[in-house]
Amino acid sequence: MYLGIDLGTSGVKALIIDDDQSIVASAVADLAVSRPAAGWSEQDPADWITATKSAIGKLRAKKPAELADVKGIGLSGQMHGATLLDRADRVLRPCILWNDTRAHAEAAALDADPRFRALSGNIVFPGFTAPKLVWVKDNEPDIFSKTAKVLLPKDYLRLWLTGEFVSEMSDASGTSWLDVGERSWSSELLAASDMEPRQMPRLVEGSQVSGGLRATLANELGMEPGTVVAGGAGDNAATAIGMGTVGEGAAFVSLGTSGVLFAANNAYRPNPESAVHTFCHAVPDSWHQMGVILSATDTLNWFAVITSQSAAALTAELGDALHAPQGVFLPYLSGERTPHNDAGIRGVLTGISHTTDRAAITASILQGIAFAFRDSLEALGAAGTSVDRLLASGGGSRSVYWLRAIATALNKPVDIPAAGDVGAAFGAARLGMLAAGEASLSACTPPDIDQTIEPDVELRSAFEDAYQLYRKTYPAIRSTMS
Ligand code: XUL
Repeated sequence: MYLGIDLGTSGVKALIIDDDQSIVASAVADLAVSRPAAGWSEQDPADWITATKSAIGKLRAKKPAELADVKGIGLSGQMHGATLLDRADRVLRPCILWNDTRAHAEAAALDADPRFRALSGNIVFPGFTAPKLVWVKDNEPDIFSKTAKVLLPKDYLRLWLTGEFVSEMSDASGTSWLDVGERSWSSELLAASDMEPRQMPRLVEGSQVSGGLRATLANELGMEPGTVVAGGAGDNAATAIGMGTVGEGAAFVSLGTSGVLFAANNAYRPNPESAVHTFCHAVPDSWHQMGVILSATDTLNWFAVITSQSAAALTAELGDALHAPQGVFLPYLSGERTPHNDAGIRGVLTGISHTTDRAAITASILQGIAFAFRDSLEALGAAGTSVDRLLASGGGSRSVYWLRAIATALNKPVDIPAAGDVGAAFGAARLGMLAAGEASLSACTPPDIDQTIEPDVELRSAFEDAYQLYRKTYPAIRSTMS
């Protein structure tokens, strides 16, 4: 048995697989995000531990013998968050999350230093870790001076599980401190943000051992002391391991809180100018590129709250047949990364008339996010990565309507996996299996496909025209916002 733990933004998921990689049990525990000021997004790391204990506790209630039989644990997590610890490993302030844009000025300043793009292979985005530390240095100097260690969210869970300060290449790629081509911390980039290598955790590959489960905690959780904990991965690389997205050009589209268009690469091919992310993959000698949309299901959930509907009810109202494009919706509720790198931009809906009802707005939202993915596909193309087809993943992929809009906007077939649960927690469990030495990378196969959503030929050219309008809308509205 192997246990995968995915520390997401909206909850923790824990999942057990057996030696044949069949899912034995899974459980979730919710997390809330606190937004104390405009553009801020924070969580208390203590809540991650409470939620992880709760999710594992639910697994124990369902399958105690299987949990006790776990031989390897893998961790996956929301990326980029800054968890600051003092010398006694105490958390100094709430974690500043990946979708927090307060450090946009600090990010722009670091990004203006050419060493960051040259060594880290990426734009310094406001949500990345380094600019957050600069913000803390300037705004909370007492906390900055007490910061002995900086950990990414899942690596804080690892500290709790194993007592070890360790990160791995895929998540470390999103800090702006990793030399992504060399797969090592860059003392030059750390120094450029007044940080030191001793504040960083040790690095392993995602499929390597990072430590063993602490004995006291093992007893409390109903698990074996010393159980191997793998390096694990950032949630997108973990999803890729779960979906078998490991060879050149294999790709998936993820509809989670954020939206991600992810393609695996056999070589390091950075292209920060297109605002594409180029990160290490979770296995050695492998990298990946991705376009990241900050608000995917987050946008639909926003509309669900203001219409007092569930997101599922909103998409169900549309039926499965694609509607002709109407208006332009830019899904920039908390700014955007790919392709604009613009923390200040906000969403917009054009073309509203007396006939615009709730369903029409839902359709425009889903269409707008599909076009945001098209932007990411273009960005990946500019970075030299071509994609033939995409696997669908994430909660939003339950909407066939949405997948149809994406297939039509991208003019690519989208494959729906037969087993619905092959995401980040499953990928993390696979990394646990690799670290325990029980399998090789060839075990990370793609899932069986239940259904392929083809582009809608009737609406293809209308979608292409609407995409061109979408492209024109961002520069047109940019000057109307700060
Ligand atoms: C990736 C990113 C998001 C988070 C979501 O760069 O910021 O996908 O990992 O959890």
